[in-house]
Amino acid sequence: MYIEEAKNNVGKEVTIKGWIYNTRSSGKIIFLLIRDGTGIIQSVVSKNDVPEEIFQKAKKLTQESSVIVKGIIREDKRAPGGYELLLKDLEIIQITKDYPITPKEHGVGFLMEHRHLWLRSKRQWAILRIRHRIEKSLRDFFDNRGFTLVDAPILTPNACEGSTTLFETDYFGKPAFLSQSGQLYMEAAAMAFGKVYCFGPTFRAEKSKTRRHLMEFWMLEPEIAYITFEENMKIQEEMITYVVQEVLKNCQNELSIIGRDTTVLEKVKPPFPKISYKEALEILEKHGKHLEWGDDFGGDEETILAAQFDKPVFVHNFPTGAKAFYMKPDPDNPGTVLAADLLAPEGYGEIIGGSQRIDDYDLLLKRLKENGLSEEDYKWYLDLRKYGSVPHGGFGIGLERTVAWIAKLPHVRETIPFPRLLEKIYP
Ligand code: 4AD
Ligand code: MG
Repeated sequence: MYIEEAKNNVGKEVTIKGWIYNTRSSGKIIFLLIRDGTGIIQSVVSKNDVPEEIFQKAKKLTQESSVIVKGIIREDKRAPGGYELLLKDLEIIQITKDYPITPKEHGVGFLMEHRHLWLRSKRQWAILRIRHRIEKSLRDFFDNRGFTLVDAPILTPNACEGSTTLFETDYFGKPAFLSQSGQLYMEAAAMAFGKVYCFGPTFRAEKSKTRRHLMEFWMLEPEIAYITFEENMKIQEEMITYVVQEVLKNCQNELSIIGRDTTVLEKVKPPFPKISYKEALEILEKHGKHLEWGDDFGGDEETILAAQFDKPVFVHNFPTGAKAFYMKPDPDNPGTVLAADLLAPEGYGEIIGGSQRIDDYDLLLKRLKENGLSEEDYKWYLDLRKYGSVPHGGFGIGLERTVAWIAKLPHVRETIPFPRLLEKIYP
């Protein structure tokens, strides 16, 4: 039996295969907290109820020793989780000596060095289960709406999000880059499948040591033929609402382990507020932050903007120069592009970047050149504007920033099993 199935096994004798999370003893009774990956259950070893040999074996158990136990499940309101195992038999697989992570407080540096073991801790377990639920609900959202999952390549010859943050590799004597975004390939796929998404790791050599930046992060990127800019934001709203609802529905235990106050999450329902970049500058000015037209927002600016609202907020119509080459100019607002970032509440900043794409061949060519990109490298991308070009758009949602917000974590390093940070790639 897995521990998560305890409630369906009350009164039955079961076998649990797992590890010792903690032990406590009061003379004639030993309490073992046993974890098996699905949960933690308290197991009671009573001197009066088990053979002496079993009691002596239980006494030897240490934190993270691996064990197979047999016993009877019973309901007990006082036990953590509400159920307990009355131990009958115990097989020791390995006695662990000197497990480095003890129940006392450790520094983050130490824990990061031991990330391979830290994953076993209750809080890390809860966070990564929430991550899994977010990944699953994101995929379900698109699968249920008839999107086709199309995998984008990781090794690429082109830059998508600017050439300054590329990881270069040697591709048989020629440079190739780790993908910053699957978007350009999704644009090709959208013309073949109508509505598509990719979901994979992306890489940015960003020299940023912040609580929001990873060198390797996961991004889900939908791309839709014939979509309008307004429709693009609407689907983002519905997606975020769905994901938050799914986490609230399925992760109550995990949310309570990490102590997440869910009242803010319960407010996440459409419509989300929308402000233009121009309005954003005015809000920032009022809060003592002066930005020139064209300046990009940093973490501080995003935090101020998001703090004005209790729901995620769209910032749209950025100045052309502040954004990527492929974004479509807004005919109604010269000098700006049809791009929107979604900022999460509670100081988490940008979790989604999206836009309408340039669908005109000549304009795209002009923008490529203005951005110092070579026509030759982007020949295939230009082809998409030559053969049945249509209005289209999409967005990219950063998984780790979304997890950080939903779980309200102080840093993205806890949102991914093995974070790749500036100057840190171990373990
Ligand atoms: O805004 P970005 O750069 O957009 C794109 O890459 C587009 N090509 C997406 C598209 O339209 N298909 O990145 C999208 C999101 C950000 O909003 C953020 O959540 C996340 O990716 N992100 C990062 N997350 C962690 N660490 C980093 N270094 C990140 N850079 C971007
Ligand atoms: Mg962005």
